[in-house]
Amino acid sequence: MFRRIAFFFVLLIALPIAGFGGDIPRVPLGHDEIRYLNSMPKDNPLTRSKIALGKLLFFDKRLSRDGSIACGSCHQPHRAFTDGRVLPTGINGQTAKRNVPTLLNLVYGSAYFYDGRATSLEEQALIPLQSHAEMGNTLDRVVATLSAISGYRARFKAAFGDRAITPDRIAKALAAFERVLISGESPYDLFEYGGPKGSMSQSALRGLRLFRAKARCTHCHAGFNYTDEDFHNIGVGWDRADFSTYEKTGNIDDIKGVDPGRYAHTKKPQHFGAMKTPTLREIARTAPYMHNGRIKTLKEIVEFYDKGGIANPFLDELIAPLDLTDAEKRDLIAFLKALNGSNWLHIAPPFRFPD
Ligand code: HEC
Ligand code: HEC
Repeated sequence: MFRRIAFFFVLLIALPIAGFGGDIPRVPLGHDEIRYLNSMPKDNPLTRSKIALGKLLFFDKRLSRDGSIACGSCHQPHRAFTDGRVLPTGINGQTAKRNVPTLLNLVYGSAYFYDGRATSLEEQALIPLQSHAEMGNTLDRVVATLSAISGYRARFKAAFGDRAITPDRIAKALAAFERVLISGESPYDLFEYGGPKGSMSQSALRGLRLFRAKARCTHCHAGFNYTDEDFHNIGVGWDRADFSTYEKTGNIDDIKGVDPGRYAHTKKPQHFGAMKTPTLREIARTAPYMHNGRIKTLKEIVEFYDKGGIANPFLDELIAPLDLTDAEKRDLIAFLKALNGSNWLHIAPPFRFPD
């Protein structure tokens, strides 16, 4: 009951902050409203004009060096902000080295990228603009391009009080837009919070029990957003590891053929091959899976975990064979499919850009 009351109370608070205006969600079923509002950084409050500006920047290809790629080229709304490919293509047909993750529910995060190397959405936003394999631009050129567009100068004024266009403001607007990309109101949420009877099939309900108990998924995919926001080595890609030099030197920097993940950032041996636990919300919409994009279907995902991942010296101790029956595997997949939300589906690229 308290949840319900809190929910409507927060609607009242959230409306004036966010406004409806198409882009702005009410806080959906399955999210903690207070937590959502508390996740906003003090120096970048949500406003309608900033979110609207961030949305334009997100989909505007003019932010890339050759005008061919926008954030939204790789993070496509109709694929839950992924691109459906094993690895994405940036400017000049270059291939980035990791699979595109969803951008939904990142508002709650504290580390971004599979290796967690960015610590805020603001910090993250400026990285793809400058990455050679993604948008290949320089911040000076992005600022110059946008400053030459009077429609953008007016929109920066509306969002920030004056017409100055700076990297800091570009980052803040993009981050504000990303913070309204939230997924909830899935069949699972309806089931959990008293929606219509039968929101989840019997198979999905059995899958939920497996997810929490026998299959041990909640050890890492924990809480309402299905992530512990931590890093784990579950063995993805380790079938291609080359230990030949490492066997002679014992130096872990000599392990080749695998993505070192969090280790590249922290240099702690226990982080070798550890990746950020992704949310599982919208998971049925974001194939192919994992940081290397090599798992194609949810069926293959469940087989991967059932076998206990892929053995390697840094494998997380929570990963071990599960002994699931075929029926249990089907139930687990049915549950994962019940995590597709409905509240954000109206979000689409803008029809026009400022000129
Ligand atoms: C060429 C494709 C491409 C483009 C263009 C692109 N991204 Fe990404 N994005 C990726 C990939 C791949 C990753 C994962 C990289 C990694 O983990 O090292 C990623 C990761 C992210 C993350 C972190 C997600 C998480 O779970 O930690 C955010 C946020 C993000 N991108 C936002 C943006 C924004 C904002 C833009 C535009 C300024 C943008 N991206 C442009 C491919 C792209
Ligand atoms: C030890 C922690 C841990 C456990 C336990 C765990 N996962 Fe994961 N999961 C991860 C990490 C870390 C990744 C990302 C790995 C990568 O990309 O290399 C991941 C990735 C995934 C993905 C792909 C996500 C995407 O966007 O590509 C799915 C689906 C998934 N897990 C489902 C499950 C299911 C189902 C279970 C239970 C059978 C489970 N996980 C148990 C940590 C865990």
